[in-house]
Amino acid sequence: MASATEERICLFLCFFLFLHLSTSTKNNPIPSPWPEQFHSVLFINRSGNLQKTDLWYDWPKGRNFNIIQYQLGVLKYDLEWNNGTSFLYTLDPFNHTCKRLHFDVGILRPNWLDGANYLGQQYVDNFLCNVWEKVDFIWYYEDVVTKRPVKWIFYSGMIAHVMTFEVGAVLDDEHWQAPVYCFSEAEPEPKIHNRRSSSLLDLEAAVDGGFRGTLMSEMS
Ligand SMILES: *[C@@H]1O[C@H](CO)[C@@H](O)[C@H](O)[C@H]1NC(C)=O
Ligand SMILES: *[C@@H]1O[C@H](CO)[C@@H](O)[C@H](O)[C@H]1NC(C)=O
Ligand SMILES: *[C@@H]1O[C@H](CO)[C@@H](O)[C@H](O)[C@H]1NC(C)=O
Repeated sequence: MASATEERICLFLCFFLFLHLSTSTKNNPIPSPWPEQFHSVLFINRSGNLQKTDLWYDWPKGRNFNIIQYQLGVLKYDLEWNNGTSFLYTLDPFNHTCKRLHFDVGILRPNWLDGANYLGQQYVDNFLCNVWEKVDFIWYYEDVVTKRPVKWIFYSGMIAHVMTFEVGAVLDDEHWQAPVYCFSEAEPEPKIHNRRSSSLLDLEAAVDGGFRGTLMSEMS
């Protein structure tokens, strides 16, 4: 019979073998690139504040839209252009507000997950998923079978559950027009610079989709 010490040593060796296997990158799956155009409905939990977001990703036209419905609250539009300009606005029946921001970076590229660290498989939201992490910033879960994203988690704790994922869906051009009151004032766009900084973290609160203000600055 093996002594407790021997068992412990064996467990130790198994553990390191496991670590070695799980960190060797040879046959690790890589995340599917995002389709060039898609529409996705996301349910997002931000520390208990719930929101439903319509995400319209449109790489060929260099634009990305988060249309955010806060639970029993306002509907907010976060329209992002690849030239770095973002418009954050509300429409009727809500007060007319608009914030124009300028970022050093464009929208996410379809291959923005390249270079993510593979962490193995896990059941999330009842789907068996491959899991990756990128720059301690996002944890990304993709269905093993269909390769569709299931969920992602930002370092801030914000969790997005992917409810629909319509590859090839495009929102008509007419909907990508920020309202006139976004253009009424002559004040320059506030510039948002690269790299995480306290102002960027503040900004994350403003950019509720969570993409440009935080993710983009890391991925560019
Ligand atoms: C949202 O996340 C919080 C933790 O931040 C959790 O306590 C709560 O149950 C979640 N709500 C839903 C509806 O998932
Ligand atoms: C970026 O493109 C949008 C949409 O065409 C435009 O409204 C905005 O003024 C542009 N921003 C800059 C800095 O050129
Ligand atoms: C909308 O504007 C009115 C009038 O300025 C103000 O009283 C009200 O608080 C505003 N509502 C919101 C949600 O900001």
